[in-house]
Parts: sequence; C-alpha cells; structure tokens
Amino acid sequence: MFPDAIGAFVAEMDFGVPPAVAEVVRTAADSQAMGYLPMADRAAAKRATADWLARSFDWQIPADNVHLLPDVLSVMRIAIQRFTPPGSPVIVPTPAYMPFLTVVPALDREVIEVPSLLDDDGRYHLDLVAIDAAFAAGAGLLVLCNPWNPVGRVLTRDELEAVAEVVDRRGGRVFSDEIHAPLVLDDLPHLPYASLDERTAGHTITAVAASKGWNIPGLKCGQMLLSNDDDVATFAPYAADAGDTVGLLGGRAVVAAYDESQDWLDDVVSYLRGNRDLLVTMVEDIPGLRISPVEGTYIAWLDCRELDLPGGPAQFFRREAGVALTDGTMCGEAGDGFARFIFAMPRPILRDALERMREAVLARR
Ligand SMILES: Cc1ncc(COP(=O)(O)O)c(C=O)c1O
Repeated sequence: MFPDAIGAFVAEMDFGVPPAVAEVVRTAADSQAMGYLPMADRAAAKRATADWLARSFDWQIPADNVHLLPDVLSVMRIAIQRFTPPGSPVIVPTPAYMPFLTVVPALDREVIEVPSLLDDDGRYHLDLVAIDAAFAAGAGLLVLCNPWNPVGRVLTRDELEAVAEVVDRRGGRVFSDEIHAPLVLDDLPHLPYASLDERTAGHTITAVAASKGWNIPGLKCGQMLLSNDDDVATFAPYAADAGDTVGLLGGRAVVAAYDESQDWLDDVVSYLRGNRDLLVTMVEDIPGLRISPVEGTYIAWLDCRELDLPGGPAQFFRREAGVALTDGTMCGEAGDGFARFIFAMPRPILRDALERMREAVLARR
C-alpha cells in the first residue's frame, strides 16, 4: 500500500490560475471589498460571457439571456425543475459525469441511464435509438455533455443534429453541459448545441463556466444560457434571485478569465495536448489497458476490462500503484471495468503515475 497517492480524480488543474484572476482576488483582499456583487459587476460578467461565446464559437446571445448561478449543477437543477414536466424522468447517457446520476434522484426524479455505443477504437457515440425510446417512455429531458466528461469526445455537427432530430420529434428538452468547451485538444470546433438552429435553441438550457478552462471552480460563478423567448419568460420571475446567488470574487473572476486570459488558456490547452499525447503513448505500453481518444477535456477514460482487476480499477491502482482514480462504475453501469483519470498535472508527475500503474499491472502477471 502506498502511503501517499497521486491524485487524479478531481477535475481541477495543477496549473494555478491566470494572473488577471489572481489580481481580482488580491485587489478584493487589499481593499477589503468582500460585499455582495454590485449590479455593474453582475452586468459585466454577463457581457463578458456573451462576448466570449461570440468570439470563440460565433454564437451571438444577448447578455440578458445569460444568468449567473453558482455552478453548472445549479443550472442542471433549474433545467429539471423549471423546464420539464413535473415528475418526468431524465435521460443520462453513460458513461456520465458522476453527479448527473445523483442530482436527478435528489430532485425525486427517475434517471434513465442510456449506455452509449463503443467503437472498436474506444470512441463513444450516443445511442439515439435508446434515447428515442426513453423519450417515448415519458422522459422530459436529455442531459448532453459536450465536450464529454468522462469519455473525452467532442461531438460533431452530424451527431448533434441527429440528437436534435430525436428531441424535436419527441417534444423533449435538453440540458447541455458545455463546461469543458474551452478545453478542445484536437483540431475540432466546439459547437454549442443551442446555437445549431432554431430547433435546438428552442429546446435547450445551456450551462457554461470559466471554472474548468481557467481553473476557478472554487470561486463559484457558472452561467445559464437561455436561447428562446418562452424560456426567458418562464425564468423571468426567478432571474433577479438567481443573480444574487454568486459572490463578488466569482463574478469578477469570470470577467478576468473571459476578457483577459485567452493567452493563458491557449498555453494550458497546448500543455494538456502534450500530456494527452504522453498518456496515449504510455498507456500503449501497459499490457491490457486501453484509452479512449481524448478529443477534449483533461479527462482520460481507461478501459481496464481485459485486466480484470480485483476490486475494480480504482481500488487496484490506489492500492498497488498509489494513483487515485475514479472507478468507472461511478459513471454509470456502462463504466464497469473502466477508470477515469484527470491528467491536468505536471508532466513528470503524470509520467510517474503511469510508470507506477505499468509496474502494478506487470507485477500481476
Ligand atoms: C461535465 C461537468 N459538469 C459539471 C461539473 C461541475 O461543475 P460545477 O462545479 O460548475 O457544478 C464538472 C466538474 O468536473 C464537469 O466535469
């Protein structure tokens, strides 16, 4: 048993924060300004979000349709509670970000897990036939996560349009979690689902945040994007309260991230790309282990099924290699025999973790 472990299970990066964000926090401390987020800063955070969406993804959304909420899971709760028929089940394609599977039952709603389809090369695809059947069975909402934690996919326009066709035909809704949008590693566009056309704008509640790309999840300021007049009207009675749920540091940090920290993000993405490439090379050297192509996010999805590891992959690698991963079963039944690995760490530590994992696997032979 290793006394200490290399932590690779919490989705945050070991790379600090952009200087402009640190400056926001320093300035607040120096001036002892720790009050509520003033209206002007609230407006600035909404404006910065809308500008970033326009600049990065060519998605023009009025700043008034951006709502500040503490985090993406708060947006998910609102999507379920305010924008779906009472009591209707929620479709979660798996493998999924773990809390999707617990937030839904906590709201007294049923989760319909839809295991995704796996190509021979380890790439996942949504099972649209099963999603269609789940809507037919009464589900009100599909949870879409793109870029996709934990399997690393960046969904293509064709894939998103195929989703839109099913949702539109069934009169369903989509909660689109795009928190990893800044972290596309391959030369692929991130396409905000609601920006595709009027259909998707009409049935989607989107969540974005600077939390992952700029490494500030603890400052608690996510953004909900509304993309049609009906949803704006539905949410209007709650909009003022929503703005009160975020803090001063988070609201100001969002502006510093979106407006002033693109270069920092570009450097991080380039470093993550190098880590991803190293990970792929080193996993090839671990007999019986496979990795899904990581097109986006800093999360790798490791297929350990062939190794048949006692107690599951996370327990095995924690005990035998001193590397702390998330067991795939936390991401739904489809994750049995898999593990989730956060690789946003300094490269020497990543190399060390993978060497330890290799030795642990070889020692079993
Ligand atoms: C896909 C996805 N959604 C949501 C979250 C959590 O975001 P928040 O802290 O804003 O709720 C994470 C964090 O890892 C995530 O990967």
